[in-house]
Amino acid sequence: MTTVFAAAVIIALIAVTSPLVPVHGLGGSASTFAVVYGSATVCGIVAEQQNQRIQCWQNNQLINILPNISFDYIAGGQDNFCGVRSGGFSLLCWNPSFVPKRVYYNDSVLLQDLTFGDDQICALTNGTQNVRCWRGETKISTQLPDGSDQFRSISSGLGFSCGVMKNSGRVTCWGSDSAMATLIETQYANVSMSDIVVGGSQACGLNLTGFVVCKGNNDSGQLAFPSNSAHEYSGFALGTNHSCAIRKSNNSVVCHGRDGAFSSNLIEGVSFESIVAGLDFTCGLTTSNFSIICWGPGWPSNSSSGVELPLPKILPGPCVQSTCSDCASNNSPPSRCSTIRRQGSRAMRRQRSGTSSKHADRAEEFSFLDLAAATNNFSLENKLGAGSFGIVYQGKLWDGREVAIKRGETGAKTKKFQEKESAFESELAFLSRLHHKHLVRLVGYCEERDERLLVYEYMKNGALYDHLHDKNNVEKSCSVLNSWKMRIKISLDAARGIEYLHNYAVPPIIHRDIKSSNILLDANWTARVSDFGLSLMGPESDQDYRPMKAAGTVGYIDPEYYGLNVLTAKSDVYGLGVVLLELLTGKRAIFKSGESGGAPISVVDFAVPVIMAGEIGKILDQRVGPLEPNEAEAVELVAYTAMHCVNLEGKDRPTMTDIVANLERALALCDDSHGSISSGPISIVSE
Ligand SMILES: *[C@@H]1O[C@H](CO)[C@@H](O)[C@H](O)[C@H]1NC(C)=O
Ligand SMILES: *[C@@H]1O[C@H](CO)[C@@H](O)[C@H](O)[C@H]1NC(C)=O
Ligand SMILES: *[C@@H]1O[C@H](CO)[C@@H](O)[C@H](O)[C@H]1NC(C)=O
Ligand SMILES: *[C@@H]1O[C@H](CO)[C@@H](O)[C@H](O)[C@H]1NC(C)=O
Ligand SMILES: *[C@@H]1O[C@H](CO)[C@@H](O)[C@H](O)[C@H]1NC(C)=O
Ligand SMILES: *[C@@H]1O[C@H](CO)[C@@H](O)[C@H](O)[C@H]1NC(C)=O
Ligand SMILES: *[C@@H]1O[C@H](CO)[C@@H](O)[C@H](O)[C@H]1NC(C)=O
Ligand SMILES: *[C@@H]1O[C@H](CO)[C@@H](O)[C@H](O)[C@H]1NC(C)=O
Ligand SMILES: *[C@@H]1O[C@H](CO)[C@@H](O)[C@H](O)[C@H]1NC(C)=O
Ligand SMILES: *[C@@H]1O[C@H](CO)[C@@H](O)[C@H](O)[C@H]1NC(C)=O
Ligand SMILES: *[C@@H]1O[C@H](CO)[C@@H](O)[C@H](O)[C@H]1NC(C)=O
Ligand SMILES: *[C@@H]1O[C@H](CO)[C@@H](O)[C@H](O)[C@H]1NC(C)=O
Repeated sequence: MTTVFAAAVIIALIAVTSPLVPVHGLGGSASTFAVVYGSATVCGIVAEQQNQRIQCWQNNQLINILPNISFDYIAGGQDNFCGVRSGGFSLLCWNPSFVPKRVYYNDSVLLQDLTFGDDQICALTNGTQNVRCWRGETKISTQLPDGSDQFRSISSGLGFSCGVMKNSGRVTCWGSDSAMATLIETQYANVSMSDIVVGGSQACGLNLTGFVVCKGNNDSGQLAFPSNSAHEYSGFALGTNHSCAIRKSNNSVVCHGRDGAFSSNLIEGVSFESIVAGLDFTCGLTTSNFSIICWGPGWPSNSSSGVELPLPKILPGPCVQSTCSDCASNNSPPSRCSTIRRQGSRAMRRQRSGTSSKHADRAEEFSFLDLAAATNNFSLENKLGAGSFGIVYQGKLWDGREVAIKRGETGAKTKKFQEKESAFESELAFLSRLHHKHLVRLVGYCEERDERLLVYEYMKNGALYDHLHDKNNVEKSCSVLNSWKMRIKISLDAARGIEYLHNYAVPPIIHRDIKSSNILLDANWTARVSDFGLSLMGPESDQDYRPMKAAGTVGYIDPEYYGLNVLTAKSDVYGLGVVLLELLTGKRAIFKSGESGGAPISVVDFAVPVIMAGEIGKILDQRVGPLEPNEAEAVELVAYTAMHCVNLEGKDRPTMTDIVANLERALALCDDSHGSISSGPISIVSE
């Protein structure tokens, strides 16, 4: 039962947190390259040049596209292709002789996506996500779905287009082939989708839980994607009678339809960033070197010199301006991409630094220079503190994201890192896939020469430890934490984070170092657990070498660990028990007894006898106001829970699930305005 539930939770988490992937329809959508299938022309936005201009390959010729300016997205149809200028304020289309024509210009209503079917072009407006379409030279947006409908994804095929509504996930289709539009829309009637790509007479996309759902014509087996597991595929490209998708695990491409005519040696073992389909061929942008490969029965194989097209390197993902006010008002966009979409930039960096890492995950790889720039060269002013195995700095990435950057101690450990590079990478990959609202997320990492850095989400309100024990904080009227309800909520948040690590992470994670300085508070005062799972960040990565340091922090260490030398989930329970006692008493895990500094005493030895004697009131933190009637029972429940958590033997401690249940109950009691109506079962279960 647990397993099934765990899977469901994880899937739900992924669905909530996964970004919307750009998708690629017939002729392309939101892409950096496009095919004009009528003339087997392939165009792309070139990378590594002063401006993101377009070049095309046609009949063995490389063509420079004018005007020589920057573009964000391009898409192609039967005879023409179009591009959204960097900044989104204008849309240009080129005819078969490559003569440009401006189709759209508005510097207040910007475009942010582009899809091109046979002869219908559609784009989304930035922010409002309304769809705009043009056919040939006539704007036909009035014939479309209600202009106020908001979309999260759109795609155009042969004679029809479909979009996924932003809020409901409902699929709606339109276009000149209204029979096909109606058919597809009806077949999707009961499915909520997160994106959609359409082709000749079929459509595919991921539903809200990440499973492939294809509809429409399957005469050639073009819909034969098995839907075994969620998030198996990312981008799709659909032609007339075939469909291709990128496998998320290794970015290889799989195609169905046309009796296997698309299974090609050409693409065996090749990883792709994105794919785009023509009627009867598919082209892909390779991850290894950003070249373009086309294949399939409809591709004139003798039209190019070999497998890959001799185009320059193509941008792996759309460049998106971080702010477009300049380009919009000056009517001329900056000459460079200031922000490449995350995926693109990662691939670019990997490419430049020559690392051939093949993570199947999406942990971001940063360059050392980026992180130095983000932290003012690791200046003292940016230092937040020291965590396990490194110093933590506050930083601001080039795209404005605020992060906390942990820089590993260099020196002795470096060698081990290198020996265990692949283990390091796979662990990071694993950790960066953990998404939970009570865990501080690992955003990415940097590994260059001797440097190992980890990049985390930034937690604006700092560590619980500082709020409870830092003199400066305590003496200011630290109102937020000086309420029992708030303290119980923080306990519950942290317990939920740890419970996730124990019960829902696959494989499960034992934190090893639960303490109040590892419980951070975000901008909303939601508590989140940090510093988990990094078994490879320190020397304990050696199986046979387990120094004390790795087992936690004095005052929080599971006493059973001394005897058995093994950490279990119950070691984390012990650590959380100590944190609960800190929250109740306001004392440090180890503190000096007496005003003028007597012998050090642990909060466990201090509090447990008092709680057992039923006199918790005597040791509650005085900074929190007197107990409201309904709070007394809640605080008592927390105290009893804490007492059980710090039992000497792990088997006598509750599980994280029990703790979460008790803290939920305690929080509910605080909300209970009628005082103590204690009735619900209070479970302090031991195994
Ligand atoms: C396009 O512009 C770039 C710099 O802006 C320049 O290097 C390149 O030569 C130009 N290409 C053409 C064909 O004008
Ligand atoms: C841009 O769009 C807005 C809203 O539709 C409209 O009011 C404005 O006139 C348009 N601007 C131009 C230059 O067409
Ligand atoms: C585009 O939309 C995003 C999200 O709504 C917004 O943050 C951004 O400022 C918009 N860009 C422009 C240029 O309006
Ligand atoms: C959608 O659900 C309704 C009601 O459950 C059902 O009548 C209809 O046949 C379903 N449509 C499809 C395409 O499955
Ligand atoms: C997505 O599709 C899968 C497989 O068909 C199904 O099990 C799952 O319930 C669907 N998710 C949603 C949200 O409809
Ligand atoms: C499409 O046809 C193939 C066989 O050619 C079949 O395996 C697959 O299940 C079909 N898919 C759908 C969605 O009907
Ligand atoms: C696709 O299949 C249909 C019939 O199923 C056929 O008429 C058409 O020629 C095919 N198109 C291509 C490009 O193979
Ligand atoms: C990618 O993974 C699939 C299965 O997930 C496998 O069949 C295929 O051979 C792999 N391709 C590469 C290039 O590793
Ligand atoms: C680019 O990558 C492809 C696929 O990985 C490979 O076939 C091709 O030889 C590479 N080209 C260059 C110039 O390295
Ligand atoms: C390509 O091959 C076809 C026949 O396979 C031939 O007719 C055509 O001339 C060739 N084109 C070029 C550019 O070599
Ligand atoms: C960081 O250090 C480098 C080289 O030491 C220097 O060029 C750069 O200006 C410094 N940047 C900042 C923000 O201090
Ligand atoms: C804070 O809460 C608001 C509203 O629930 C949410 O939009 C925002 O993302 C939260 N901020 C953080 C840092 O979680």
